[in-house]
Amino acid sequence: MTDAAVDTRPAKPSDEPLKVDLDRLRGDLLGFAQIGCKEDDNGTHGIYRSGFSDADMEARRWLLSLIEQAGGQARLDEAGNVVGRWFDDVTAPAVVVGSHIDSVPAGGIFDGTLGVVAGLECARVLRESGLRPKHPLELVAFADEEGRFGGMFGVQAYCGKTTLDWINNAHDVNGVRLADAMRSQGFDPNQALNAARKPENIHRFVELHIEQGPVLEKEGLEIGVVEGISGVFKWVVRLIGRANHAGTAPMDMRSDAFMGLADFAHEIPRIIEEDGTDKSRITVGKVELKPGYPHTVPGEVEFSIVGRDMSGEVMHALADSCRKVLSSIARRHRLHFDFEELSWLDPAPCHPSVVSMFCKQAERLGYSHIVMPSGAGHDTQFMTEVTQAGMIFVPSIGGVSHAPNEWTNWSDIENGGNLLLNTIYAYLTGEDD
Ligand code: HGY
Ligand code: MN
Ligand code: MN
Repeated sequence: MTDAAVDTRPAKPSDEPLKVDLDRLRGDLLGFAQIGCKEDDNGTHGIYRSGFSDADMEARRWLLSLIEQAGGQARLDEAGNVVGRWFDDVTAPAVVVGSHIDSVPAGGIFDGTLGVVAGLECARVLRESGLRPKHPLELVAFADEEGRFGGMFGVQAYCGKTTLDWINNAHDVNGVRLADAMRSQGFDPNQALNAARKPENIHRFVELHIEQGPVLEKEGLEIGVVEGISGVFKWVVRLIGRANHAGTAPMDMRSDAFMGLADFAHEIPRIIEEDGTDKSRITVGKVELKPGYPHTVPGEVEFSIVGRDMSGEVMHALADSCRKVLSSIARRHRLHFDFEELSWLDPAPCHPSVVSMFCKQAERLGYSHIVMPSGAGHDTQFMTEVTQAGMIFVPSIGGVSHAPNEWTNWSDIENGGNLLLNTIYAYLTGEDD
């Protein structure tokens, strides 16, 4: 690094918009698509990179090498976040760009990973441009964004929002503990709090993500600028009845756990109608009947409930209503019910100044765009607690995500990458200091 006193490079290389190299970005994305890729029973190929799995760690190690090849300093922090840093000679709060590379089981290749590889490509272009920025640049791939262990562990640790108590009690829906999963990958879970960053060292946070919904494609728009991110709560619920013989147990004398779940499923629309909004979502995504044998009345069912809304108050109303409905169903079917709350992540507004910066850059680049909410949760919703943070969407084909056929057109990815790049450039050069 030449001495700043004699450094003749331009502080701001040019007023022309900077452009990502789509071939490089595509190459990285398709490279990640090979890690944890498995053929499903129906012949499709989904991504299996759940938090702290071997595939997740393989992806993290590859990202560390990509950051170094791109001239950055790379490290894995104590919570498993991959952190890359450029322009580190500048002592000022950093502009941070990031997302996640872990996936849901049978996930798509773009969810999270797009934001990380686009951030990496931005770092390459900015470094190659000869920029002499006013802020350092940091890229983060947060650990366990998809919430295998509850939800957004990596970004919560990065923001100093988690506790040892939570870390040592968190577990996944199969009972695997976060602490054990971390130890199996060489981490000491009790060091995870050291990943916390000081808010004064962070200037801004930006994230590029696929929309994972149908709006942009339906409206024929290129970019979504996110104004706020939905909150999400996750429960594991047990309905406990009495296993019995499927031939001899009279229908009116059973304590059939499945029938309790079936009744709950039919109550969901009413719960949302009475206590929710058009942004409310309640999903039962995982069910296990016990003993799970066709000739036995199920004595127990364990299932997940994930509830969401843009308002914290509505989330609490939905949760209360689920609890009341489950307890009346338990009485009706002679069942006992209990539940464990695995996570409660509050909704979060993106910072208005970041929303307007993204809109300003989108106008400058000539991209059609709308300001819109996010029904999915994202790392940005925690970063809003420690800095001015915001995010942008690119269209999802058919609105599909969390599935192998998740797809976004490369031209839209190029637009999203260029918007992310020029927004980061504006922040690095102190446009809104
Ligand atoms: O499930 C979500 O909202 C996000 O994809 N983690
Ligand atoms: Mn995501
Ligand atoms: Mn996701």
